[in-house]
Amino acid sequence: MTGNSGTAAQGPGFSAPSVGPGAGSSTALELRGIDMHYGYVRALDQIDIEVRQGEVLGLLGDNGAGKSTLLKVMSGAHQPTSGEIRVHGETSAFASPADSTHAGIQMVYQDLALVDAQDIATNLSLGREILRKGPLGWLGFVDHKAQRRRSTDELEKLGVRTAAMTRPVEMLSGGQRQVVALARGATRVSGLPGDDEKRGILLLDEPTAALGYEQTQQVQSLIRRLADRGVACVLVTHNLPLAVAVCDRIAVLNRGRKVADVPVADTDNDQLVGWITGARPSMFV
Ligand SMILES: Nc1ncnc2c1ncn2[C@@H]1O[C@H](COP(=O)(O)OP(=O)(O)OP(=O)(O)O)[C@@H](O)[C@H]1O
Ligand SMILES: [Mg+2]
Repeated sequence: MTGNSGTAAQGPGFSAPSVGPGAGSSTALELRGIDMHYGYVRALDQIDIEVRQGEVLGLLGDNGAGKSTLLKVMSGAHQPTSGEIRVHGETSAFASPADSTHAGIQMVYQDLALVDAQDIATNLSLGREILRKGPLGWLGFVDHKAQRRRSTDELEKLGVRTAAMTRPVEMLSGGQRQVVALARGATRVSGLPGDDEKRGILLLDEPTAALGYEQTQQVQSLIRRLADRGVACVLVTHNLPLAVAVCDRIAVLNRGRKVADVPVADTDNDQLVGWITGARPSMFV
């Protein structure tokens, strides 16, 4: 038997969690038997994982464990060497992030992917620009004022505070940039029309890495609020207290293999650290 697929000891990740938000709701994103090779490096080894609507899944693991690679597979940025991805029950093959965006998946990258020279409102509006009315709009001119209004409104709804809308992103601190990147993902996923909002999936790669205390709290409550609205969230983080505070369930990767998948209420820091470092044996052997 390879990896953690198909064993009786699949653990809580494979049966409906009996407690907590997301319990009883349907599976938003499901990966089966995912392998990912970078040349000779096997970054992911037979990964089975799922996240339900309204659930926050924490993804923990040491540097190089495969967390970012797994998120990139979920977002369509990388095509797995083998394995299957299902979104809301339907088998999906993402040729690019555009395909996964279409399926309601939003990824906030570890390396941010903001346009430095542009202001906050423009960054928040990337890919959904508001054009000016009349001939100027036909020529592709952007209505910056309307974009600033919409961005201010969206950030207020998300409960996120950053610098002034007109500030170029390159003039923000690392933490402020991180909040803008997260807010962009959140507005897109929560901006889906009607019932589709509940079907959104938000993938976050270390969203609080550069954040101070207050901003980390802001991000924590933002993630929780999105999940409470039905959005499925996958949170990669090295911040154990944050993971325990915000996640419903935690999966741990160790050298490309999933070694644990537990409801947060059924584990503790010692166990998690043991799985992260490899001192504790995998749940799936
Ligand atoms: N583009 C790439 N080309 C080749 N190898 C890669 C590439 N990206 C990642 N890897 C390798 O794949 C493995 C998993 O990397 P990944 O970035 O997924 O780790 P991670 O868990 O996100 O680590 P960190 O906590 O440091 O961000 C590592 O051995 C890494 O060196
Ligand atoms: Mg990473």
